[in-house]
Amino acid sequence: MEPTKRVYIQNFGCQMNDYDVDRMIEVLRKDGFEAATSVEDADLIVLNSCAIREKSEHKVQSAAGRLRELKARRPGVTLAIGGCVAQQEGDRLLRRVPTADFTFGPDQIPALPALLAKMRDGRRFAATGVIDVEDYQFLDADPQPGDVKVTALVTIQKGCDNHCAYCVVPQTRGREVSRPAGEVVAEVARFVALGAREVTLVGQNVNSYHAIGTPDGDDFAELLRLVGAVPGLLRLRYITSHPKDFTHKVAEAFRQLPSVMPFLHLPVQAGSSRTLKRMVRGYTREEYLEKLDYARAQCPDLSLSTDIIVGYPGETDAEFAETLSLLERVEYDNIYSFTYSERPDTPALKLLQRDDVPADVKDARLLQVQTVQRQITQRRLERFVGRVGEVLVEGESRHASHQLCGRLPGNEMVNFDRPPGLDLVGQLAPVRITAAGTYTLTGAYAGAARTRLPVVSA
Ligand code: 5AD
Ligand code: SF4
Repeated sequence: MEPTKRVYIQNFGCQMNDYDVDRMIEVLRKDGFEAATSVEDADLIVLNSCAIREKSEHKVQSAAGRLRELKARRPGVTLAIGGCVAQQEGDRLLRRVPTADFTFGPDQIPALPALLAKMRDGRRFAATGVIDVEDYQFLDADPQPGDVKVTALVTIQKGCDNHCAYCVVPQTRGREVSRPAGEVVAEVARFVALGAREVTLVGQNVNSYHAIGTPDGDDFAELLRLVGAVPGLLRLRYITSHPKDFTHKVAEAFRQLPSVMPFLHLPVQAGSSRTLKRMVRGYTREEYLEKLDYARAQCPDLSLSTDIIVGYPGETDAEFAETLSLLERVEYDNIYSFTYSERPDTPALKLLQRDDVPADVKDARLLQVQTVQRQITQRRLERFVGRVGEVLVEGESRHASHQLCGRLPGNEMVNFDRPPGLDLVGQLAPVRITAAGTYTLTGAYAGAARTRLPVVSA
């Protein structure tokens, strides 16, 4: 028998990459690998890259650079670079990172054992084909009992057919394909059977999910209903939504389906309709706000987050001021904000939208956005203080071993002292919120766990 090989994976990027890492581990496990605890005891190191901004792209190259010494010391170690930069750059990445043995795109994950075998030829190579949409087969998750956490990700879609002018994703992840609903439901049920209590459905644009053929075309609303009915699933979330395709029916699910949690990540990108038009987003500020208001009317305690890009080509002071006023108007719970980063082969370049906002102006705008938002986030978190909320307990807090952590329905993280003699992990626990920090809440356990779930065996 061959000795066990060990793999270490370092991940960058979004929820799709998180999901992909778990699939890599499963594929490699079947090929005789087990997880290494550090790069030092790994036979195979995988860096899973992100191409969304120039900075993200640099991260993978710096990480590879840091491994140069290790590769010199242990030439038998394989270094593979996966993810979106590998997909987009292929051979060019291989030239820039001399320590890499091969690169592979997100669609090549099932082929990893074959790629490792191919390496035995001793030649470096880039494996980057995006699989033809017609042939696309989703790789089913195959979780093992020890792997499953309280929360799980389940992919419902690959790729993206939008053409947001700034975005590289349609090139790195290819055309949009929706995963058959039966596969999604079965995968959710597999995770739940192994102990998951919350599932997040992931895709680049979940609202354009189309694999059911409902008469009104709102397949995503129907998928929420189907998944929401999986026995034992307590909480259902989804990311990422596109405002253009976010329907009233999906908003109504917040009210109608008990497992759909009151949390919505609806990336707006900019507050000015003129900027949005140049971004080719397909909605105006007013249309966006109408959808948000409708969702809030369905679910008054909805927690909201968004993505913001500042310094998009041509963004004037007046346009930027509309982004700030939008933040005040909406009062998001949380935002993710970025300065515009020009990406190769994106529509913005073809539309001759030059990266013309000076870097110092971009940085100043980013700071302004973050300063305004910090106060709003704080205010939003403070609304919970004094209330008892239902926390799905995920495990030990990262800050202190005597504390547990989990999330409120709106996705707010709560840390609270572990009540002696109670194992609350995987359960809904009532917690009285006692204080609001900058991004998280502190609370105190407030009674017997409300939902004692039967242990479901695999
Ligand atoms: N520059 C800056 N931010 C970007 N994003 C996507 N592409 C770019 C880019 N070229 C941001 C968007 C998106 C999030 C995932 O990353 O806000 O919603
Ligand atoms: Fe995710 Fe996009 Fe980054 Fe790829 S480029 S890892 S899809 S955010």
